Amino acid sequence: MKLFLDTANIDEIREINAWGVLGGVTTNPSLVAKEASDPGRVWKEILAEVDGPISLETTELEAGPMYDQGVRLAQMAPNAVVKVPMTPDGLAAGTRLVADGVRINVTLVFSPAQAILAAEIGADIVSPFLGRLDDVASDGMDVLRRICDLYEVQGYQTSVLAASLRHPMHVVEAALAGADIATMPYGVFKQLVKHPLTDIGLDKFLQDWKALQEELEKGA
Ligand code: E4P
Repeated sequence: MKLFLDTANIDEIREINAWGVLGGVTTNPSLVAKEASDPGRVWKEILAEVDGPISLETTELEAGPMYDQGVRLAQMAPNAVVKVPMTPDGLAAGTRLVADGVRINVTLVFSPAQAILAAEIGADIVSPFLGRLDDVASDGMDVLRRICDLYEVQGYQTSVLAASLRHPMHVVEAALAGADIATMPYGVFKQLVKHPLTDIGLDKFLQDWKALQEELEKGA
């Protein structure tokens, strides 16, 4: 499973990218708005920083303008993936973009039925939002499992991207469910690496190492 960052913040992206595990980035209009800067500049920096796919979201609601916007976004860089919403217009615009050879990510997916539609138009990525389903007392992980199962049964090539992840166990469960990609906020990425026993173990190793050096210095 590839690990993506769900952010438009270049500092967060640079920090995690240095770990060598960053497969790509997802952005959305809310995340770009948080940067309070020119969206074109924000996207360009991210596209240049990370080798993998970078999802840039359309904001037009009607199929025609959404398609035009998608074409412009796709032209920004070879690693740009155009996000379209799971709406009738999103499907229509997405179908045209796919026909042009543009990679699309169908976003705001909350059910297996919607995921079938995304696969049928040849989307590169489908993004079920787990956390937002949990927020309304639904089982986001169950929806993800069903999407992964039905894609397997049908032999769909669309990658399943587990989105709206809120904590490390969401990431682990998404991997077990068979998701191809998990996208998560910076905070969750940082939590993935943390374990108190790692910190305690490292402290002890370093203390013992220091004690040895002191012994050796005394003996010298
Ligand atoms: C995915 O591409 C979305 O940007 C994202 O995962 C939404 O997550 P949220 O529910 O935490 O806003």
